[in-house]
Amino acid sequence: HRTLRVALLGAGSVGSQVARLLREHGDDLSERSGARLELAGILVRDIDAPRDVELPRELLTTDAEQLILGADIVIELMGGIEPARSYVLQAIRGGADVVTGNKALLATHGAEIFEAADQVGASVSYEAAVAAAIPIIRPLRDSLAGDRIERIFGIVNGSTNFILDKMDREGLDAAEAQRIATELGYLEADPTLDLEGYDAAQKAAILASLAFHTRVSLDDVHREGIESVTADMIEDARRAGSVIKLLAICERIAADDDGDDAVSVRVYPALISREHPLAAVHGGNNAVFVEAEAAGPLMFYGAGAGGAQTASAVLGDVVSAARRHLAGGVGVGESARQNRSVAPIARITTRY
Ligand code: NDP
Ligand code: HSE
Repeated sequence: HRTLRVALLGAGSVGSQVARLLREHGDDLSERSGARLELAGILVRDIDAPRDVELPRELLTTDAEQLILGADIVIELMGGIEPARSYVLQAIRGGADVVTGNKALLATHGAEIFEAADQVGASVSYEAAVAAAIPIIRPLRDSLAGDRIERIFGIVNGSTNFILDKMDREGLDAAEAQRIATELGYLEADPTLDLEGYDAAQKAAILASLAFHTRVSLDDVHREGIESVTADMIEDARRAGSVIKLLAICERIAADDDGDDAVSVRVYPALISREHPLAAVHGGNNAVFVEAEAAGPLMFYGAGAGGAQTASAVLGDVVSAARRHLAGGVGVGESARQNRSVAPIARITTRY
């Protein structure tokens, strides 16, 4: 087998699990990839920081430039915009394939990153960026590429679902539920991204871009978080036979008199009937419903946050990137896929 050098940027909740699984299942993953996957190094801020997963000290580094240089596959799991953006661009320009779970980066700088990748024929894979363990990116990008998607809606943030669920079913207060979700590694490094709906809005922008073959960014998404949802509101909802869930909705709408399509993307807490399948999405799980013209309604369900769960999606992308790398990098770039038809974006502000 040819050896491919894998650089891992970040060893937090997700990165540490990726490193563990790469080391534990390295032989199997290499067999499936057709290449020996060598973990060349792991970028961290603080080499001496305590970690849940024991990692060989000699793999840890604070020298990003050196690590990225010479890597065939770069896995970015640091989060945030900078320096993640610069490192991803450096990796692409150096000819590496990139795997990332960074929805914040893709929802704000996706155009720049995908164009840079297209220019050099590199791939950027991001199955982990939306709904963690649930395969949703590839189904939208590949399996449903022949269909016309009308609507996507569901729960795409695990930590806020966990918090609302604990408040509803166990009567915990929001702060206590958030503390447990943090321990489970569900929250972003800056928890306001989850609580104020930014994380869900970033994911909605990514899903809408794929589903409608256009470019939707975070600024195009109407966003409300769960910070104003109180225990009383949850109790009132229960009495009315409903539950409060943070929903993301992406839909194609007829925008003008000529009937040209537009896209509406929005995130807000909504009242859901307890009879609806979304009401049964508990804990850190997510569920995404896709409605396509020919396929009809489809449902994707599973773990929406968590280190090992997200690592599963990351490693799937690593295996695909390795296969692609060995095949000489064939395939259509993301920018080409997303720029074929550009629809105007309608900002709609509807709530329950
Ligand atoms: P963490 O905050 O737990 O980990 C971040 C890691 O990146 C740490 O190891 C940190 O180093 C390192 N890091 C951060 N900034 C720098 C820097 N400037 N230089 C060097 N190293 C740096 O994040 P998560 O693992 O939770 O998330 C990683 C990514 O995955 C994010 O984009 C997140 O949105 C995404 N994601 C997370 C999910 C989850 O359930 N947690 C699910 C799906 C996606 P150090 O350890 O030294 O501090
Ligand atoms: N903070 C995110 C969430 C992690 O709670 O859904 C998964 O993307």
